[in-house]
Amino acid sequence: MKVNCWPILTLLLFISLTAVLAGRDFYKILGVSKSASLHEIKKAYRRLAKELHPDKNKEDPEASQKFQDLGAAYEVLSDDEKRKKYDRCGEDCLQRDGMMDSSMDPFASFFGDFGFHFGGGEQKHETPRGADVIMDVAVTLEDLYTGTFIEITRNKPVMKAAKGTRKCNCRQEMITRNLGPGRFQMMQQTVCDECPNVKLVNEERILEMEVEPGMVDGQETRFTAEGEPHLDGDPGDLILRIKTQPHPIFERRGDDLYTNITISLQDALVGFTMELQHLDGHMVSISRDKTTWPNARIRKKGEGMPNYDNNNLHGTLYITFDVEFPKPELSESDKEAIKKILNQSSNNKVYNGLRGF
Ligand SMILES: *[C@@H]1O[C@H](CO)[C@@H](O)[C@H](O)[C@H]1NC(C)=O
Ligand SMILES: *[C@@H]1O[C@H](CO)[C@@H](O)[C@H](O)[C@H]1NC(C)=O
Repeated sequence: MKVNCWPILTLLLFISLTAVLAGRDFYKILGVSKSASLHEIKKAYRRLAKELHPDKNKEDPEASQKFQDLGAAYEVLSDDEKRKKYDRCGEDCLQRDGMMDSSMDPFASFFGDFGFHFGGGEQKHETPRGADVIMDVAVTLEDLYTGTFIEITRNKPVMKAAKGTRKCNCRQEMITRNLGPGRFQMMQQTVCDECPNVKLVNEERILEMEVEPGMVDGQETRFTAEGEPHLDGDPGDLILRIKTQPHPIFERRGDDLYTNITISLQDALVGFTMELQHLDGHMVSISRDKTTWPNARIRKKGEGMPNYDNNNLHGTLYITFDVEFPKPELSESDKEAIKKILNQSSNNKVYNGLRGF
């Protein structure tokens, strides 16, 4: 029996061809789902870039390729237009339309704090270094609750080649001058090299800083070499420091949150149910059937801030109540009715002293 295997072969050929043409699976490279948000993509990229950096994976011969794949995946998926095109017809399409910027430096728009340094660690101590620039970044409590990425535009002075030369690497040297037979003069002199001239030009750089859930005031993200330049050495670092903006509703202490709620005297006496909107928009329901007295405090476990080291752990939310007294015009019969209900003795006064003074 003669089996016609052409259709199968053609199919196999087709499959292997499309596999090549379709290019890399950027979602798989980043380990995110097809519906991942930009935030998730950035988070995944930042984590993997730390993990896969070739400096940290010297043993792996594929390290550099993996890192480039990661850079390409991020380049495409972080750009709305490129991502749409990629979703429709793959990397091949982007290549054909010249939308893949393969020259992209994976460190061009970076997230800081990668925990390694470029250009050899040891000699660094001797090379002069520009100053570190430390800046506070105001973040909202909402951002610290959910986590976000903040874009920072930095006007950075960058060195550019300029006409002519300049004196550089200047140092003191002893020189000996021959003044005649048997007579010498020794003197100290400043000696410099001639270096190509440079000028400082302001350049705009976009940096992105990840605000991770549960970060605290003063926590720093370091952007290597984004600080002040040094004419004869390396630039300093840029250090961004978290500074929480005051929040109108919540106050943070450690991982706990505090808030105050004023309820009516009626609710204080008969009980109530209410909802409080949390920092990420979810509703926290609060209900009491017992009496609530002024300054009563209730606790909602797990409704505080996420813990920085373990985002699954949350602090406690403390709610302190204040009671608003009405100023009704009460008739004699109303007064009698209230007396009857409350049944509090009117001679039972307690002197508390001057509390709080
Ligand atoms: C709640 O009230 C106390 C006492 O008046 C005040 O110190 C605190 O700042 C208030 N907290 C918030 C979150 O408004
Ligand atoms: C009112 O209070 C008094 C003493 O405090 C008590 O003996 C009495 O039973 C109370 N009456 C009612 C109706 O609860």
